[in-house]
Amino acid sequence: MTIRKIRVGILFGGRSGEHEVSLTSAQGIMRAIDKDKYDVVPIGITKEGRWMVGGDPMQALRAAADMPPVLASIADEEPESLQTVLVPLEPGPSALTTAEAALEVDVIFPVLHGPHGEDGTVQGLLELAGLPYVGAGVTASAVGMDKAIAKDVFRTHGLPVLPYQVVLRVAWEADPARVVTLCEAALRYPMFTKPANLGSSVGVSRANNRGELTAGLDEAARFDRKLIVEQGIEAREIEVSVLGNDDPIASVPGEIIPSRDFYSYAAKYIDDASDLLIPAPVSEEQTEQIRELAVKAYAAIDCAGMARVDFLMDRSTDGIWLNELNTIPGFTPISMYPKLWEATGISYTELIDRLIQLALERYKDVGRSATMFDVSTAT
Ligand SMILES: Nc1ncnc2c1ncn2[C@@H]1O[C@H](COP(=O)(O)OP(=O)(O)O)[C@@H](O)[C@H]1O
Ligand SMILES: [Mg+2]
Repeated sequence: MTIRKIRVGILFGGRSGEHEVSLTSAQGIMRAIDKDKYDVVPIGITKEGRWMVGGDPMQALRAAADMPPVLASIADEEPESLQTVLVPLEPGPSALTTAEAALEVDVIFPVLHGPHGEDGTVQGLLELAGLPYVGAGVTASAVGMDKAIAKDVFRTHGLPVLPYQVVLRVAWEADPARVVTLCEAALRYPMFTKPANLGSSVGVSRANNRGELTAGLDEAARFDRKLIVEQGIEAREIEVSVLGNDDPIASVPGEIIPSRDFYSYAAKYIDDASDLLIPAPVSEEQTEQIRELAVKAYAAIDCAGMARVDFLMDRSTDGIWLNELNTIPGFTPISMYPKLWEATGISYTELIDRLIQLALERYKDVGRSATMFDVSTAT
């Protein structure tokens, strides 16, 4: 008897500054996935938000410059279901070249970083389509993406977050002097200014004085309607991988040695010179503390599947601060998230397998809940 393989739709690319990272992550996953157990259906999303299935979407995205304008997009149409969104790249008699066939996936692995991928929007679409998917659900994705809300939730759960102020862009534009006074009353220099909903350090600056604070808020305001001003510290960057649904586990922590004075966009993607230390050279007590905090942060936002939880460790006091939680972390074979699992005893291929199984488990568990309420039995 042949057992039908599980069909995994790998979703990559997307309308995000991390489009290229996503392609590399997805390629890594497609190469390493257990082929005896899974069939892969690659689904590419262009930078304009066009969805592609059939043919070779990976190759098409890599050659994006001369891509033919034959693909439907979410923005172009009113999607009644996922079907109208997934349109064949190349018409022809292959199994994957009809929109209906494209829907024949058992589970989706969204390998999309940042806005329109990691923020609950795609997760919402998959919920509507009734498809199981890897990773956090809608709420945890959206909360994890929004630094202001995430910090509020973490603080409510007693987790250590650095002091911060949330500033709406309209308030900044209306009365900059008032905002500066507010920040200077609550925080000391250096401060960090950030857009609330972004990643990759885009729009993040360090402010050592009032002039830099003003410039930093102006810069962050280019990217979001909500801004964060945070207490800056001289920090070591410690990261932990978390895996699981209701009973998550944490990996050994790792440390990043950025190539610049902080882990900026350039340090992440341009220099290509930031070092990863695995495991992080911290004491056993600190290791345990960090792992415990990572799992607590994960549970606090009701996360599922996976997350990389990032910490800042104060160089002068060794104090540990929870910085942020990424629900779809970089997933290339040399990214921190899989590297930390490898060092903890879970290989890249096994990690992919576990994540897909977790997605199917979660889907089943969510499906156990009643969706109708029988009023005749109401008391
Ligand atoms: N409060 C802070 N103190 C010191 N460094 C910080 C602080 N906040 C952010 N940074 C630096 O900026 C980087 C990017 O900030 P982060 O909040 O992680 O945004 P992103 O989601 O874009 O990665 C961090 O990795 C760290 O190097
Ligand atoms: Mg970060």
